[in-house]
Amino acid sequence: MTETAAHVDWRAWQRSWDRQQEWYLPDREERFGAMLDTVEALTGPRPRVLDLACGTGSISDRVLARFPGAACTGVDLDPALLTIARGHFADDERARFVTADLRDAHWTRLLPHDGYDAVLTATALHWLHTDELAALYRQLAGVLRPGGVFANADRMPDPETPRINAALHAHEKARQERDKAAGAQDWADWWAAAAAEPVLAEAVAERHRLFGDPASDHSDGEMQSPAWHVRALREAGFAEARVVWASRHDAMAVGLR
Ligand SMILES: C[S@@+](CC[C@H](N)C(=O)[O-])C[C@H]1O[C@@H](n2cnc3c(N)ncnc32)[C@H](O)[C@@H]1O
Repeated sequence: MTETAAHVDWRAWQRSWDRQQEWYLPDREERFGAMLDTVEALTGPRPRVLDLACGTGSISDRVLARFPGAACTGVDLDPALLTIARGHFADDERARFVTADLRDAHWTRLLPHDGYDAVLTATALHWLHTDELAALYRQLAGVLRPGGVFANADRMPDPETPRINAALHAHEKARQERDKAAGAQDWADWWAAAAAEPVLAEAVAERHRLFGDPASDHSDGEMQSPAWHVRALREAGFAEARVVWASRHDAMAVGLR
């Protein structure tokens, strides 16, 4: 790490990322709690965790705080978010980070371990197309040990309830507008602030070359229903799969290898 980067308050960047994500997901922390309860129940308190599409390392941060004997590998493609993750965990040898594109057929070869106890991911896999996600689920069955657990918490709208979905969406939009008027940062605001941080500016520019403008990027991804995720996990080779948590907008699908 450069001398300048050593003086950046990486935790403050992580916290502002968390606030920005909470603007979209007010129950984000409850969702992380349900994820870690599931890991503890199925793998015990010292899991080796793969934090998939880790961003700033939000899941790793919570795993290592709750399970001090755990070890985490974070994987992401975004150079700016990985800079924050690597800066924040620079002195913590329990956390390692790998740059990889989850759409790459061979990305798992970059992992430092095989036989993970848990693969965890949040608010990320809707960036992929449905066929890419089905292929990823098949790869994940291969990086988990038998008895290992996979959890995906994400937007999972049920297409069979369009009026309920629309009403809840409108209600949520009104809450977001109120919070925005009170000063909350959204995705585009947060990326503008990151671009203005000299230590991050180059990585942010590279990130925008990879993903596109933050006002429009990842809009070509696809969302699937909770039932689709459960079925796809079974088809990918998981012995059991079910939804273990759901809110008005999100769900968490869990697969047991
Ligand atoms: C909204 S962020 C969520 C980050 C983190 N899980 C959290 O909850 O704070 C979505 C993440 O998915 C990552 N991502 C999207 N597509 C990816 C891909 N093809 N390969 C690797 N990471 C990807 C993005 O770079 C971003 O860090």
